[in-house]
Amino acid sequence: MNLTGGLRWHGRAWAAQARWAQTCADIENWLLAQPTASEQLMVIGASAGWMMSSAWLARYKSVHTWDIDPLAARFFRWRHGRTLQAQGVRLVCHTGDALTQLPHLLREHPQASIFLDNVLGQIRFQNQHIAQAEKRLRSITQALRGRHWGSVHDRMSGPVQMAWPAQALPNIQTVTQVHPEDAQTTQHWLTSMGAQSPWLDHLTGSIFPEGTRLTNMAWPMKPAYWHWLQAGWVAR
Ligand SMILES: C[S@@+](CC[C@H](N)C(=O)[O-])C[C@H]1O[C@@H](n2cnc3c(N)ncnc32)[C@H](O)[C@@H]1O
Repeated sequence: MNLTGGLRWHGRAWAAQARWAQTCADIENWLLAQPTASEQLMVIGASAGWMMSSAWLARYKSVHTWDIDPLAARFFRWRHGRTLQAQGVRLVCHTGDALTQLPHLLREHPQASIFLDNVLGQIRFQNQHIAQAEKRLRSITQALRGRHWGSVHDRMSGPVQMAWPAQALPNIQTVTQVHPEDAQTTQHWLTSMGAQSPWLDHLTGSIFPEGTRLTNMAWPMKPAYWHWLQAGWVAR
């Protein structure tokens, strides 16, 4: 069973469009602010691109997407295909496990930038033991060494004091990976969104190399259960 995608994800994302709009805008603004390092893009965990920006995709000459969900390719083309076609972007949607095949796919697309689209935070649910999940995450980031890659993923998630929309989303926050002062700033940021402990650690705290500029965004995934999304890019 696909715990993080499939019909359940499409249904939830379709129904939550108004609640997720601010987070989608935050992701789009963050993506558009990043330098484009290649004409080719690989998107892993693309699903239908419910939270993906067509405007950002249109900066590339070719976009290849992957998802294990057999419905994803058709839905992604439905949501983004027309805009990309109008702008002359070649879109190829693949169905398959891109994380297991990652070294092979990277060799097949040696010049492409890679974007892991809200997929790494779910690895902990796809592995029985925490140590196994951490090992898998390490092997993914090792495979990406030497490439221009980015990711947006769940860093933590949990209950908040007041359900959306009573509680406003905090502004996005920019911090540096492994900077002791930032830990305190992030704690204040979480408090400002009314986070009520305990929050679930998605084991993604060490994804990015030290010194990476990170952007934290709030995502009211469910009205009273929010996610802290963390986003960053790693240069070659
Ligand atoms: C939380 S959803 C994110 C969806 C998407 N980024 C969006 O904006 O709609 C995570 C997606 O990752 C996909 N996924 C999980 N493991 C994968 C893998 N090994 N290879 C490719 N896709 C995967 C799931 O099927 C699911 O669609």
